[in-house]
Amino acid sequence: MKNLSRRDFLKLGGATLVVVAGGSVFRAVDQGMFSVGQGVAYEPWKNWRDAAAPTERIVAAGILASNPHNSQPWLFRITASTIDLFAVPERQIGVIDPVRREMYIGLGCAIENMRLAAEAEGFKADIHLMPNPTTESHAASISLAESSPATSALYEAIPQRHTNRAAYDTTRAIAEEIFSGIDSLVTESTVRLFWFKDESARTKFGEVAISATEALIADDQQSMDSHKWWRQDWDQVQESADGITLDAQGLGSFISGMGKFLPDLSRQSNDQSFAKNMREITIPSAAAFGVLAVPDGKDNTQRLQCGQIWQRIHLWATTQGLAMQPLNQICERADRESQLGIEPVFGKSIADLIGDDQWQAIMPFRLGYPTVEALRSPRRRLDKVIE
Ligand SMILES: Cc1cc2nc3c(=O)[nH]c(=O)nc-3n(C[C@H](O)[C@H](O)[C@H](O)COP(=O)(O)O)c2cc1C
Repeated sequence: MKNLSRRDFLKLGGATLVVVAGGSVFRAVDQGMFSVGQGVAYEPWKNWRDAAAPTERIVAAGILASNPHNSQPWLFRITASTIDLFAVPERQIGVIDPVRREMYIGLGCAIENMRLAAEAEGFKADIHLMPNPTTESHAASISLAESSPATSALYEAIPQRHTNRAAYDTTRAIAEEIFSGIDSLVTESTVRLFWFKDESARTKFGEVAISATEALIADDQQSMDSHKWWRQDWDQVQESADGITLDAQGLGSFISGMGKFLPDLSRQSNDQSFAKNMREITIPSAAAFGVLAVPDGKDNTQRLQCGQIWQRIHLWATTQGLAMQPLNQICERADRESQLGIEPVFGKSIADLIGDDQWQAIMPFRLGYPTVEALRSPRRRLDKVIE
C-alpha cells in the first residue's frame, strides 16, 4: 500500500498557492480539493442506515469494512432473511495477493460488520463460513432470526473506522489494559494475536517490514498490480468508488487538497514515497505492532475468521481513540515467494518473528495514538454490489 510523504506535499503546497492566485481555482474544484470525503463515492458512509430493507441496511454496513487496497472484492445476494456473500475474483489485487489471503480476510471484515448490524437491526445472525465446499467464491451464508435489537459501541463505530497511514504520536505509549482489551476480542480458537511491544521486538519487526517493502517495489509486477488501485483523479474516484486515494494517505485534509493539484503521481514516485514513509514515519512512529495468525494460512474459513477479528479489533480501537493500519508487505512477499517457487526469505522471516510453528502469520498491523484524523475512502454503492 502506498504512502506519500507529507513533506513532499508541503513543499508543493507553496507552488500550488501560486497556481490558485493565477486563477486555476477551477482545477481545484475539479479535483475535489474543497470537498474532501464528499461526492457520490463517499455517500455510503453517510446513508448506510437509510436503505428500505433490513438486509440492505446490513449489507450497507458490510461494505464499510476494511478490505485489501480498497478493492471491495464482494458481491451479495439477499432475501428478506438471508445474505449470501461471494468473492469477486476479478477484483483480486493481482500478485500483491497471489493466493487470495487478503481477499478472504477482507470478506471476513465485511462479515463482522454485518454481524454487528444484524444485531442492531434486531436479528441474530447465523453465519456459515465457506458453506459450499465446491464453490470457492461462496464465502458465507447468513440466516437472520428475529431477536431483540442490540446496538453496540462497535456497531456505532462502523462509520468512524478508517485506516490511519499518518505518523502516530510517539509521546503516547499504549497502556497494558488496551493490549489486554484487544486480546479479549480474539475469541476464535483458530486465531491468535502475537504482539511486538518492546523496543527490541518493534525493531525486529520494523526491519523485516521495511526490507519487505523494498523487495515489493523492486518486483515490477507487484509494483504495477499495486499501482492499478491508485486513484488520484477526482472523477475517477467518484466513478470507480474504489482504490487508494490521496485523502486516505494520512496527509490531513489541507495537504490532501493541495496534492490534488498535482499531475498523477508516477508509479515510481509513489513507490519511492511508500518506502521512504515506511522508514521515516510508519515504522518509527508505531507504538506497537501485532500479527494475527491462524493454524493454516491457506484455509479460507480461518482467513475469514481472522478478518472478523481484525475488523472487531479496528472498531474497538476506534472507540478507544486509537489509530491502526494493516502492514501486509511481509506476508505479500512471503506469498509471492511461494507463488514463484523462489527462496522463502520473507516466509522464513515472518515465521521467525512469531516463533511458533503451530501458527502462520496472515495479518500484520501497527497501532498508536493518531496525530492526524484519518479520512474516508470511497465505496461502491449498494446497487453495484447486490446482485
Ligand atoms: C487483508 C487486508 C490487508 C491490508 N493491507 C494493508 C497494507 O498493507 N497497508 C495499508 O496501508 N493498508 C492495508 N489495508 C487497509 C486497506 O487498504 C483499507 O482497509 C482500505 O483501503 C479501505 O480503507 P478504510 O480501512 O479506511 O475503510 C489492508 C486491509 C485488509 C483487509
